[in-house]
Amino acid sequence: MQSGMNPWSSNQTVDVDRLFAEFGIEPVGEVARGLPEVPPFMRRGVVVGHRDYGLIADAIRNRTPFHVLTGFMPSGLPHLGHLMVMKEVVWHVQQGGNGYVAIADREAHAVRGISWEKCREYGKEYLKALYALGFCGTTYYQSRNDRLKDLAFEASTKVNFSELTAIYGFGPETSLSHAVSVVTQVADILFPQLDAGPAPTVVPVGLDQDPHIRLTRDVAYKLRMFTVEDRGDHISVRSKNAPEAALEAVHRTFSGSKKYAGHVDVTGVPMARIEDAVRGIEIARGGFGFYLPSSTYHIFMPGLQGGKMSSSVPESLFGFYEPEPSVRKKIMGALTGGRMTLEEQRRLGGEPGACPVFLLNLFHMLEDDRELADLRRRCEGGELTCGQCKKETYERVQAFLRELRDKMDAVEHLAEEV
Ligand code: TRP
Repeated sequence: MQSGMNPWSSNQTVDVDRLFAEFGIEPVGEVARGLPEVPPFMRRGVVVGHRDYGLIADAIRNRTPFHVLTGFMPSGLPHLGHLMVMKEVVWHVQQGGNGYVAIADREAHAVRGISWEKCREYGKEYLKALYALGFCGTTYYQSRNDRLKDLAFEASTKVNFSELTAIYGFGPETSLSHAVSVVTQVADILFPQLDAGPAPTVVPVGLDQDPHIRLTRDVAYKLRMFTVEDRGDHISVRSKNAPEAALEAVHRTFSGSKKYAGHVDVTGVPMARIEDAVRGIEIARGGFGFYLPSSTYHIFMPGLQGGKMSSSVPESLFGFYEPEPSVRKKIMGALTGGRMTLEEQRRLGGEPGACPVFLLNLFHMLEDDRELADLRRRCEGGELTCGQCKKETYERVQAFLRELRDKMDAVEHLAEEV
């Protein structure tokens, strides 16, 4: 069955349970417990799922190398809806990750028809916001990264049109540039390993971006020369499409190993050492030695007025440089989980779980867990009215935006040096 999930459609609802069951996304609880420090976005149920995040939790705990990457399509100015991924990337960099951010100008140009000039202008704003939030690492525009484009071409040798149809619903009328922007995104996700060497790579995304992750994991696997398999009493290094000389190199690396047609069996050497050596051999022979990328999946904040948060609905969100009176108006006019009358509100309490204003606090505006718990208690207990809560929330938003803008202004030079 095909996914029917289209990352470019503007009105999609993602069914979390179905995604988990159908596509093998794992709930995040167990791997989160393996982290030295559980980030707020996992504690608070914003990040709900993952693929292979165990590799990342191990790397954080053991202080071994890992990469973190995401991309932003510069089809407009950055806003509230982009903040979660930005924070996730920054957090992973703070945990020792090697940070990468792609500005997906090829995708914006191909899919949304944005001019290259506008892509630059918008792209710069994303980078400013990232640096202001504490990002450090490598950033690039897809259109200006030649090694990325070569990698995208290499990736395209492993993708055919029927896969694009099955995954994205592409048809005969789909522009070729759209397909190119897909393989460019695949290359984005693999780029840190090309640039800085094979290592686990985490890609924090919204649930809607999972098709890209699945495709990239598939391509990463196909680009490998070998698989390394634990066979109980020995480890088998099996050629998928390795040149004979590479198989011979594996054999020579492990004294006492046995070479057969298409595989080398090794005994008495730890799996991890064999995997590292095999990756090195692949790279020396023109291969990549990629790890399959890991991912985390976050749910989306609803729009301030209820419904979907989307730049096509201006009341649903605010921009980072939006004038204060306009931001204030949107928050004071937001939908809440309040009751019809004040009397009912006092008697029954509000419903924070269904309230965009509460979720704004949960996602972004209240970092202290005790303060958040207190807000929930005052709301559910009927102590806090929606008007008062919105006022308090706006004050937090105002302070947040003022600080963010100051920082964005201060890091402008970093965004220009890209
Ligand atoms: N397709 C993503 C979006 O629509 C942007 C993107 C480009 C991306 N390259 C990426 C996201 C790599 C994650 C990883 O927003």
